[in-house]
Amino acid sequence: MIEIDWAAEAGRLRHTATDEAGWNEMVATGLVRGTDRLAVDVGCGGGGMAKALAAAMPEGASVVAVDADADVLAEAREHTAGAVRCELVSMDDGPEPLRAAIGAPADLIWASASVHHAADQQAAIDALVSLLAPGGRLALAEGGLPSRSLPWDLGIGEPGLELRLDVVQDRWFKVMRESLPGSVPMTYGWTDALQRAGLTGVTTKSVLTEKPVPLSDEDRDRVVAQFQHRVDRMTPGASQGHGHGHGHGHEVPEDVCLPPEDLAVWKQLLDLDSEHFLGRRTDLAALSVRSIHVGQRAG
Ligand SMILES: C[S@@+](CC[C@H](N)C(=O)[O-])C[C@H]1O[C@@H](n2cnc3c(N)ncnc32)[C@H](O)[C@@H]1O
Repeated sequence: MIEIDWAAEAGRLRHTATDEAGWNEMVATGLVRGTDRLAVDVGCGGGGMAKALAAAMPEGASVVAVDADADVLAEAREHTAGAVRCELVSMDDGPEPLRAAIGAPADLIWASASVHHAADQQAAIDALVSLLAPGGRLALAEGGLPSRSLPWDLGIGEPGLELRLDVVQDRWFKVMRESLPGSVPMTYGWTDALQRAGLTGVTTKSVLTEKPVPLSDEDRDRVVAQFQHRVDRMTPGASQGHGHGHGHGHEVPEDVCLPPEDLAVWKQLLDLDSEHFLGRRTDLAALSVRSIHVGQRAG
């Protein structure tokens, strides 16, 4: 059983909102149309895209940020500083609470890495599509390629450490999905899901982001923090429910933990006092590819 304690993730999501400001601005500018009146960010996390949408939307338009966790939403509210209306709603509750929170048909709905946390992803997509105005677009940022930051052979442990982290994370993801109450498998791709919801002109655009060597100190710190977060999630004895008194403190199941030999290597790579500390390497990069699947409601 894996249950994510979103309240405990709120601070990290706020950092992500700040770190990804440039990416969000570029994507928002490409998605918004001059005639848009209302945009919505569903599962908004720290509010990074909601803030970028508010800046990109035409004069007089509005943006609503929606999240199912009150602590996460509080971070988004602070980050967007009055530019966005923030509403506490879950995609799992069906279209009506979402419709009531949003208040009007939306011209653009953005959902990044949030629909994959809905128990029934197709039902969540159907609900979001029902909130679109005629001609409105739903944009889902889901999938892409695993990020790459490390050389294949680090000179410590078996080569291919980063690839093996991806493999265990994939198992973690499967157990996380199966642990959602009422979880429904979706056995087809995101573009099929958008088509089944009745959208037309469905397409995918993948955005490559590359920060080559030498990374700035901030980018190197970010890469290390991201590895730390991923490794923590897949460490035996790690609890999914720590912090803020939320969650139920389930232990991470053994089959979604890193093998002890890799864990020992990660321990050294993430230890400031170790000669192998990643933050001292000159060959760290940051390469990522994120996919955005977009479809339009007939209008
Ligand atoms: C991985 S984070 C992504 C945050 C942000 N969209 C981003 O891309 O950085 C997933 C977000 O979805 C929210 N979330 C999870 N399940 C949800 C649900 N059923 N309805 C609405 N939001 C949900 C979480 O609270 C969290 O803020």
